Amino acid sequence: MPVLGPVVPADERLGVVPDAAVVVEDGVVAWVGPAASAPGADRRVDLGGRAVVPGFVDSHSHLVYAGDRAAEFSARMAGRPYDGGGIGVSVAATRAASDDELRGLLRARVAQMRALGTTTVEVKSGYGLSVADEQRSLRLAREVTDETTFLGAHVVPPEARGDRAAYLDLVCGPMLRACAPHARWVDVFCEPASPHAFTGDEARRVLEAGRDAGLGLRVHGNQLSAGPGVRLAVELGAASVDHCTFLTDADVEALVSAAGTTVATLLPGVEFSTRSPYPDARALVDAGVDVALATDCNPGTCNTSSMPFVVALAVREMRMTAAEALVAATVGGARALRRPDVGRVAVGARADLAVLDAPSYEHLAYRPGMPLAHALDLGSGAGSVPDAGPGPDAGPGPDAGPGPHAERGVR
Ligand code: NIG
Ligand code: FE
Repeated sequence: MPVLGPVVPADERLGVVPDAAVVVEDGVVAWVGPAASAPGADRRVDLGGRAVVPGFVDSHSHLVYAGDRAAEFSARMAGRPYDGGGIGVSVAATRAASDDELRGLLRARVAQMRALGTTTVEVKSGYGLSVADEQRSLRLAREVTDETTFLGAHVVPPEARGDRAAYLDLVCGPMLRACAPHARWVDVFCEPASPHAFTGDEARRVLEAGRDAGLGLRVHGNQLSAGPGVRLAVELGAASVDHCTFLTDADVEALVSAAGTTVATLLPGVEFSTRSPYPDARALVDAGVDVALATDCNPGTCNTSSMPFVVALAVREMRMTAAEALVAATVGGARALRRPDVGRVAVGARADLAVLDAPSYEHLAYRPGMPLAHALDLGSGAGSVPDAGPGPDAGPGPDAGPGPHAERGVR
């Protein structure tokens, strides 16, 4: 029984409103439509013809970590393949950091995301890998988001390598009990091709234990090989299976049958940063799979928290249309988190808006690497739009093209 509404094609879902206004009341969208027919409001914010889109929903990130793995990245660019072994480096640095250090790093990362237009973020543990360190990671993550994910089954930590079964007992027993009160979700790195990650049977055990503890399910699947992750996620009704880089026809069929329940979350920043083949997004979208885009921001495989960069990669490298990419990065992420209140500019949804220093959403891919998107801060009175003005390509005018122009964000 699907838990989400049907998958609606991106062009239908987009609903571009030229010269639009949004009325916000108590942080919720109260009205949206053409500015000419907007109802009155106590305060008006004129965005000068800039496009307004739903704030990005980044449904997959690993932001609680200390340390640096630039050397691993450079080695990879010189040809060394990724196998998950570097995670141990981040685990050591994270364990050694104080609460305040970790909190400072986490908050700085969340602030960077917001500055780039992200308004909802999921944050995983997974660089603690002991009862105390996993619980600490989730406690800190809960300070910045409700969307916290227990990832004690990220890899088998160095001290447990001689006894995988004992580590799984720990993850599914005392670690889960300590972490579940601070988490909404459980995740597992299901990847038989990595000696550090978990097999299908091991992943099933972790997911079932998490489900029995009341957590929703997420899976890292099919990142390095066509393993069992996707089909396991679908079988167990997970909210999302993430990566989906190496898929068989049977995996795609399983994802089609799971549309409305299990979202396929693509993380093309990982393929960029590991120099791997990109997932076949075109095949998934055309087959009717529920698709989301997220950053996977982490110190190993993708050290960027930029959703605009991910959108640009999706368009350039995975042949998604600009509309498909925007939908996947907003309402797609919301579906992957089962959050009907975010990812849309619609009456009743949270007024989590991103404003672009551009006349249309297409500029996200058309102008890669440019700092166009910002979360709109309605609380400050003037929004988060810098004073410098929209720049030479923005602003209303005959060439502005179709886009969700918000002439007024009103409150
Ligand atoms: O999603 N694949 C597993 N976890 C992360 C990478 C973690 C790391 O290398 O530090 C990912 O790619
Ligand atoms: Fe990840």
